[in-house]
Amino acid sequence: MSLFDHELAFSRNLGWLTQTEQTLLKSRRVAIAGMGGVGGTHLLTLARLGIGGFHIADPDVFELQNFNRQSGATMQTQGQTKVQVMADMARDINPELDIRSFPEGIHAGNLDEFLEGVHLFVDGLDFFAPGIRAQVFRRCAELQIPAITAGPIGMGTAYLLFMPGGMSFDEYFRLEGETNERQYVNFLVGLTPSSLQRSYLVDPLRLNLAEQRGPSTIMGCRLATGVMGTEALKILLQRGPLYPAPWFHTFDAYRMTYRRGKLRWGNRGPLQTLKRHLGYRQVARLLGTPAPVPEPTPQGLMEELLALARWAPSGDNTQPWRFEIRDTRHLVIHGFDTRDHVIYDLQGHASQLALGALLETLEIAARARGHDCQIQRRLDTPETTPCFDIRLTTRDSPVPEPLAAHIKARCTNRFPLSRKPLLPRDRVALEASLGAGYRVIWLEGRDGLRRMARLLYDNAYIRLTTPEAYPVHRQIIQWNSQYSEDRLPDQALGMDPLGLKLMRWALGSWRRVHFLNTYLGGTLLPRLQMDVRPALGCAAHFVIIANKPVRHLDDHIAGGRAVQRFWLTAAGQGLQFQPELTPLIFASYVREQVEFTRHQPSIERAMRLTRELQGLIGTDALESAVFMGRIGYGPAPAARSLRLPLAALRCD
Ligand SMILES: Cc1cc2nc3c(=O)[nH]c(=O)nc-3n(C[C@H](O)[C@H](O)[C@H](O)COP(=O)(O)O)c2cc1C
Repeated sequence: MSLFDHELAFSRNLGWLTQTEQTLLKSRRVAIAGMGGVGGTHLLTLARLGIGGFHIADPDVFELQNFNRQSGATMQTQGQTKVQVMADMARDINPELDIRSFPEGIHAGNLDEFLEGVHLFVDGLDFFAPGIRAQVFRRCAELQIPAITAGPIGMGTAYLLFMPGGMSFDEYFRLEGETNERQYVNFLVGLTPSSLQRSYLVDPLRLNLAEQRGPSTIMGCRLATGVMGTEALKILLQRGPLYPAPWFHTFDAYRMTYRRGKLRWGNRGPLQTLKRHLGYRQVARLLGTPAPVPEPTPQGLMEELLALARWAPSGDNTQPWRFEIRDTRHLVIHGFDTRDHVIYDLQGHASQLALGALLETLEIAARARGHDCQIQRRLDTPETTPCFDIRLTTRDSPVPEPLAAHIKARCTNRFPLSRKPLLPRDRVALEASLGAGYRVIWLEGRDGLRRMARLLYDNAYIRLTTPEAYPVHRQIIQWNSQYSEDRLPDQALGMDPLGLKLMRWALGSWRRVHFLNTYLGGTLLPRLQMDVRPALGCAAHFVIIANKPVRHLDDHIAGGRAVQRFWLTAAGQGLQFQPELTPLIFASYVREQVEFTRHQPSIERAMRLTRELQGLIGTDALESAVFMGRIGYGPAPAARSLRLPLAALRCD
């Protein structure tokens, strides 16, 4: 075993520290409350800085949900007490450390002991522990101990220093007399008055106040410890300048921004009061939103496969399938279409494509687990309710199935994407995914995108002004939602909040829609936001063409299978994807003379649209076109459709 040499171990601090300062740090003692995401990392940071003594407190043990950010959380330390693990890690860095552990955590009864003889207090307490936090800071002020709080906020940090004789924690945050929920708000708005992180919080529902957990990143924790270590050095070595409270500091790596400001009246100032009250309202709303119910763990192979397969896409998230598990190897899928009430499915093609996607997904999921699916459509069931027998057989040697990894991540993105052209390797992978029997027509470049934008602008006019489409639009949107199990959440539609408000109002009655359309150019805003902007904002539009005309139910099902391979491949390549099927649907109604509306102008517009589409891809190709959409690079959408729970989809 190698011997420890204190001087050598910390010699690389020298230069930024003098030898005298390094020696002084060895004699300093720091109290850290909390050994989790920040507290644990704070301890290791200060140990490497050469601080010689610590008081550490935390009553918890390491658990799996700590792994994303807590320095001590590993497979080996699961279930072990945080103070013990962290003390061991710190002593591994400096065996001469003098560490006093408080494995019961801190409370009013041991506070004085915890703070006895310390030169600095560092806050690593849980965000949801405002009561004890206020108590420690109060006692630090009484004992003239400087205190630092540096929290991970998003992908950045917000921090405050409380120095003896300066503004106190209580004066700054004003927590006293407030409910727990209001104390959370006060702490957050005081810590981050500029709320830099708000703009990139993609899933606010992950903040669960009832269960006292929120999102947190390792980057935030590491940045927090970086600023804490620096401020600790300045305080302990009496270097300046310091900017203690009422100064606040935020550094956000994601926004690449540092903000420093002064809240002369702390949270009592007029702007902070306004922010607090907005925060209270938001918290009340959050507490009123039911937390997502976790899905039960699937029982047995068939349930496991279906739990994945049900993530297949379907028009307007209708999920036109129900599952009957006959036994461990035999499943019956009862499909249906929505032609009786959905104007976009009058021939059942959209539902059939979705069923094809479901079968493909099931087969991919099965293959990934070493099984083959034998799929047989029952020929005696009507076209409107196609039924499939699926029998599983175990493979002798499993084959890799890379598409399986993307089944749940694949989703629809209706927002503008980057215009960066498709990389050749992505194009090749996409075309190959379709297999023999299909090809792709790409519409890209300035001209291609513009022509598609024009086509979709015209197509949207039909969608928005045809009376028979109105009940569908009214029914498929779940308002004020980021997620929906059986419809489209409004936040996934690609419109901005004002546009959504207007649309919601308009969809309240057909009279409103008609009035807006007739007198106020009501189709313009949705057409620009939901059609033109995304049509111009993508790498390319595509049309998937079969090598023979698609007529029969089985052609659409086979087409749906190819589409799902294409879509999953896109997801695997990091591409975003949106179907644009309605032009093909209207063109099919025109060709096959399906009476989709009594509104004569819509029929005439559909005929014009069909000619426009023929001009874009050719008359023969249109007869064999299976699917259309757009594709491009960009971030995944924050809002998306979910699926009905498996129990609701089962009919056995
Ligand atoms: C056959 C079919 C047609 C679709 N047509 C459209 C469309 O025209 N426009 C659109 O934005 N999304 C369309 N979608 C996407 C669905 O709305 C989406 O798949 C469904 O809501 C589930 O959401 P997810 O794909 O995000 O999981 C279509 C999907 C399928 C399978």
